[in-house]
Amino acid sequence: MSVSTMGITVKKIEKSRIGELDHSNIQFGKLYSDHMLVAHYENGQWLQPEIMPYGNLNLSPATTFMHYGQAIFEGVKAYKDAEGNPVIFRPHDNWKRMNRSAERMAMPDVPEEIFVEGMRELVKLDKNWIPTAEGTSLYIRPFMIATDEFIGVKPAEKFTFLIITSPAGPYYAKPVSIFVEDKYVRAFPGGIGFTKAAGNYGASMYPTLQIRKKGYDQVLWTDGFEHKYVQEIGTMNVFFVIGDKVITPETSETILEGVTRDSVITLLRDKGVTVEERPLSIDEIADAFGKHQLKEAFGTGTAASISHIAELTYGDIHMKLPSEDWGISEWVKAELNDIRYGRKADIHGWIVKA
Ligand code: COI
Repeated sequence: MSVSTMGITVKKIEKSRIGELDHSNIQFGKLYSDHMLVAHYENGQWLQPEIMPYGNLNLSPATTFMHYGQAIFEGVKAYKDAEGNPVIFRPHDNWKRMNRSAERMAMPDVPEEIFVEGMRELVKLDKNWIPTAEGTSLYIRPFMIATDEFIGVKPAEKFTFLIITSPAGPYYAKPVSIFVEDKYVRAFPGGIGFTKAAGNYGASMYPTLQIRKKGYDQVLWTDGFEHKYVQEIGTMNVFFVIGDKVITPETSETILEGVTRDSVITLLRDKGVTVEERPLSIDEIADAFGKHQLKEAFGTGTAASISHIAELTYGDIHMKLPSEDWGISEWVKAELNDIRYGRKADIHGWIVKA
């Protein structure tokens, strides 16, 4: 039975928990909607996916992902369009990226019928959980874990793919303050930096904790050879506005191919702004700041959307970026929101109806 003909079984919750959602105080990742999607993979094939009430998983303590980290995830968002219909932003791009992560982590491809169609079914079912205030959305978290009950080290043979969703407000409540990392490393060529492997985030916790103690919000990672070229921020890709150009590190084995990153580049180029994707050294950034040419810096990500950087610290250089200069990032943020909430035409075909 192929996945496309097997359909999705739906077991609905008896009583919705929607009353728990306080629209006046929506935080990120605190509350989960009524249903989740679960699909198991065994004997080389995906079994029939099931949408069921959100709840705990029953797993053996010997489940392999808990020991060796064969686990990957994605982040997607759903909105309500101008007519109040549930829509999902660029789910096919996340699906493709999930499968690039899956290949590198020796996990099976997730079929489009499960990732995209399953997500559409789930979002449609839980559409009442999509908040509509500006800056809010339903955050969708697809993820896959290796589920062999075996603590020997070997690529697993059994996997579970899940999608959970959560009403979300802004990921960062205010503009972020960034520390340029010159000791710890996130990614090396040949490694897994381009994937959304859980371990990439696990390994970032200790460096993040160190800089939090100094009062910074996030790390800006630099390359592992010289700590010279900027890569990405803990939860976001990074952009700098220098003079009248926008510059972002080119994606590579060590940098995640952000879907929001791509959307921002596309919208800026549509508007005629020059966007350069190239190696960018921290010295070039500091030099531009010294010459008053560094106007803005911002991060992009599904969860974070577009987040302004208020301050960037590199050694003893403190680069403060006043909000009066945030013209480009404010423009692109508004433009992207207009498309997401259906207020402007979706000329790039990014919006998919749930
Ligand atoms: C996202 O932006 O969706 C992410 O996955 C980043 C972070 C929340 C881990």
